[in-house]
Amino acid sequence: MTRIIALPGDGIGPEIMASARRLLDQIGGFEIDERLVGGASIDDSGSPLTDEVLEACRDADAVLLAAVGGPKWDTTDPNAPRPEQGLLGLRKGLGLYANLRPVRPSPALLDASPLKRDRIEGTDLLVVRELTGGVYFGDRGRRDDSAYDTTVYSTEEIERIAEVGFRFARERVTSVDKANILETSRLWREVVEGVAKKHPDKQLDHLLVDNAAMQLVSRPASFDVILTENMFGDILSDEAAMLTGSIGMLPSASVGEPGTPGLFEPVHGSAPDIAGSGKANPLAMFGSVAMMLRYGLGRQDEAAAVESAVDRALADGLRTADLGGDANLEDATNAVLSNL
Ligand code: IPM
Ligand code: MG
Repeated sequence: MTRIIALPGDGIGPEIMASARRLLDQIGGFEIDERLVGGASIDDSGSPLTDEVLEACRDADAVLLAAVGGPKWDTTDPNAPRPEQGLLGLRKGLGLYANLRPVRPSPALLDASPLKRDRIEGTDLLVVRELTGGVYFGDRGRRDDSAYDTTVYSTEEIERIAEVGFRFARERVTSVDKANILETSRLWREVVEGVAKKHPDKQLDHLLVDNAAMQLVSRPASFDVILTENMFGDILSDEAAMLTGSIGMLPSASVGEPGTPGLFEPVHGSAPDIAGSGKANPLAMFGSVAMMLRYGLGRQDEAAAVESAVDRALADGLRTADLGGDANLEDATNAVLSNL
């Protein structure tokens, strides 16, 4: 039995997790233990991630998370617990420094993107986002009437994520930074160039993040791996999601050293506006299950089967509301499961 910790979280999280569990049941062979994280955990214990849940995740073969956050827990009080701290605590606590966000528009959705078909056709890129460093984890606080956040990167942190970028690249790594301004970006560039020398079969180019944001919509098909730091990766991956038609389509994998369980989650958030309505799109969640099978559990064939069931459902016309259709969560789940 493969042991999975399922973390439904908040908003549409529990609904799409229920769909993911139907998918896992149909594949078979999983022992699933559901736990609280995010706002749901704050309501239960005051903490967005308890030590007990973190321990359970450490002992699992993989962790599947739906989404955290919502207006109920939104606050600007620096001392109040926030749902997002649950997610950051998991990433840091499990040492998941590499976040993989593949962007590959399904052929059936080429006309669903707000971008023209001829721009996005052929897009097959991977955002490799550093996940346990940078401004997300630097010192922050308030002093008198000001506030500060700090970005720190060590050579070692940059080296290990750059290795992941080169390992996944077919032919080219585009490293994204803001080296014309930031010292951390200048170190990033130096270190990435050093790592590139160990991969002479792969090309390296550099883009400044503002330029990368533009190129990503003007020539998405020419990217292979986009390698970047935590905050830039957060922003660029939401932008890249629109190439697939909807942010409801993008899965992600967060992985660390071999032997530690990975965390698999959709890139989208908890969508509080549609929570409980049964209208959520489960496809990014299904894509995350596929990534869990492939990168977390080494079950390549099953991963490919899930992905092709999703592609076939879309080819047969499945469109949830975010893709301009009227299929609801249940319709979408049934459509994919019947193709599996
Ligand atoms: C993401 C999300 C998270 C992040 C939030 C929910 C903390 O936006 O996974 O991209 O900023 O990393
Ligand atoms: Mg984000």
